[in-house]
Amino acid sequence: MLSEKLEKALNEQVNAEFWSAYLYLSMSADFAAKGQAGFANWMHIQFKEEQDHAIKLFNYIISRGGRPVLKPIAEVKTTWETPLAAFEDTLAHERKVTAMINDLYALALKENDYAMQSMLRWFVEEQVEEEATAQGIIDALRMIKDNGFGIYTLDKELSTRVYNPVASAE
Ligand SMILES: [Fe+2]
Ligand SMILES: [Fe+2]
Repeated sequence: MLSEKLEKALNEQVNAEFWSAYLYLSMSADFAAKGQAGFANWMHIQFKEEQDHAIKLFNYIISRGGRPVLKPIAEVKTTWETPLAAFEDTLAHERKVTAMINDLYALALKENDYAMQSMLRWFVEEQVEEEATAQGIIDALRMIKDNGFGIYTLDKELSTRVYNPVASAE
């Protein structure tokens, strides 16, 4: 059984993960509108991953005898000046999510909930990957600057990203 505090905090994280999904779907729409299909594909997969994060937590709340409560999803930005601006927003957002996961972990420690600490370690690892991936694309975009062929090549590269469902998010 989850403590009331942990159930509430997990529900807030479910909302935050859905907001992340919304943010990346919005970025995907913006890239698609600009004819950058590879960037759009990358963001669309990111959207699906974030939905998986939300559902993984949703399922976890149920498995611990809690009750998922879905709250409204706040509005997201709809357009970004450049691909670099979008990926800088992505990294800044993922850093915020990392801080939220760390706070959740700290709360699970405080509440002596060992099962939840174990579940959250997956998210701790995932956040390392999320930040590193966003940073890698930012590094590439900084080298490319406004070189059209560079953007074209990176767009082609990002078009190859495929979706791998997250375990226990079905
Ligand atoms: Fe996430
Ligand atoms: Fe990921």
